Amino acid sequence: MNSPTATAGISLELDDIQRGALHQRPSPYVGTYLLLRIDARAAGRELVRRLVPVVDSARHSSDPALDAWVTAAFTYQGLKALGVPEDSLASFAPEFRQGMAARAAELGDVGDSGPERWEKPLGTPDVHVALAALSPDAARLEAVVERARRAHEELPGIEAIWRQDCYQLPTGRTSFGFKDGIGQPAVEGSGVPATNRGEPPVKAGEFILGYPDETGSLPPMPVPEALGRNGTYIVFRKLHTRVAAYRQYLRARAACREEEDQLAAKMVGRWQSGAPLALCPERDDPSLGVDPGRNNDFSYANDPRGFKCPAGAHARRANPRDALDGEGSVEVRLHRMIRRGTSYGPPLPSGVLEDDGADRGIIFVFAGAHLKRQFEFVKTQWLNDGIFIGAPAEKDPLVGANDGFGTFTIPQRPIRRRLSGLPPFVITRGGEYCFAPGLRALRWLAELDT
Ligand code: HEM
Repeated sequence: MNSPTATAGISLELDDIQRGALHQRPSPYVGTYLLLRIDARAAGRELVRRLVPVVDSARHSSDPALDAWVTAAFTYQGLKALGVPEDSLASFAPEFRQGMAARAAELGDVGDSGPERWEKPLGTPDVHVALAALSPDAARLEAVVERARRAHEELPGIEAIWRQDCYQLPTGRTSFGFKDGIGQPAVEGSGVPATNRGEPPVKAGEFILGYPDETGSLPPMPVPEALGRNGTYIVFRKLHTRVAAYRQYLRARAACREEEDQLAAKMVGRWQSGAPLALCPERDDPSLGVDPGRNNDFSYANDPRGFKCPAGAHARRANPRDALDGEGSVEVRLHRMIRRGTSYGPPLPSGVLEDDGADRGIIFVFAGAHLKRQFEFVKTQWLNDGIFIGAPAEKDPLVGANDGFGTFTIPQRPIRRRLSGLPPFVITRGGEYCFAPGLRALRWLAELDT
């Protein structure tokens, strides 16, 4: 499909933007997340100096070697540990400075998802640097991880404190069985083609700092410009999925396997194959699901009451497209996000309804310029609240902070169907707010001398 993005009037400094921020990951892929603690400032700066040649930029290339890359990001505590000056620290977004654990109540991370239960060291002040290495296959991943390892190993004062391996299956499906990562905004000037012809490319400043955003102004950027420009905020969350509970829930409410698949699709807004309900409401169309030229090319305009795709379905909540009243679709553009979700843990074999005790789920990754009005807004106002769709008591049926009493309405004729007793299917194991600087900014950090 031809995209207007590549020729739009903005020139992004792709050589300076980290590859992980703008580039689609290869498919399939394997990856590793590493968290590091900086115990000595000088060692932290040496680490960053060593990372500069390891981290790849978003420049275009047909070289398959560039399908494997490393992304580096820092928490607020990490920037402090590097000795970033006070005035600069104070110029970062307030949510970033607080850190994700401090935002837990707001985000609905309570009870089993509360920070007091998070997997250590997630959510603690020990997490300073996050590295993500990924590659199309295990052999090449080893080489990339080795590059990252050389940057931090045998460097006294730097401690590797957490590692999480992850992968994307060739089908792109994650633990609940759905193909994920389909709905993404086209970013003006990125050169990555749009997949939804109904959504004009979103201004680059919504995702990369230093460029105008959808409001026409420059989003608040950390100072100095040498540090803020071409950076992006990253949200990183380890989300455990209760797959057996989810399958049991569907089994108990459906008369047959076909109905289970239908209920599951209504909850997500897409069939497991990825085919959107908006385009095939009655039954799955796997050839549509796998077709990147068609599987994201739809709107909700002709389905205001949600007979095809319920307004409460996960994907429709997370991106209502043109379904909001009045100025809605303009408003929606202020809440878009780049997602880089990935699987961890062994899949629960098909048909198994008993929990095997394995930890499995999704490492959810967000990239954007506005933690509050993008990630936090979508999480709190759209996924964990139903006021905007006229169902204040309903949360997202799949990923919402449900408590065992949640409901989900499926509009249908002659009478709607209402599912009740929704438990939480997703438990937060922990997470961090990070900042992924541009490549020049990495050098700036390495050369700090305060
Ligand atoms: C374990 C947790 C989650 C699971 C299993 C999950 C699963 C999915 C699936 C299956 C889709 C449809 C496929 C696609 O368009 O990529 C989707 C779409 C999406 N999800 Fe999630 N998701 C999770 C958490 C979240 C969270 C926490 C957010 C945001 C705060 C989010 C935001 C989105 C967005 C923006 C879309 C794309 C909607 C569109 O453009 O049509 N998801 N998700």
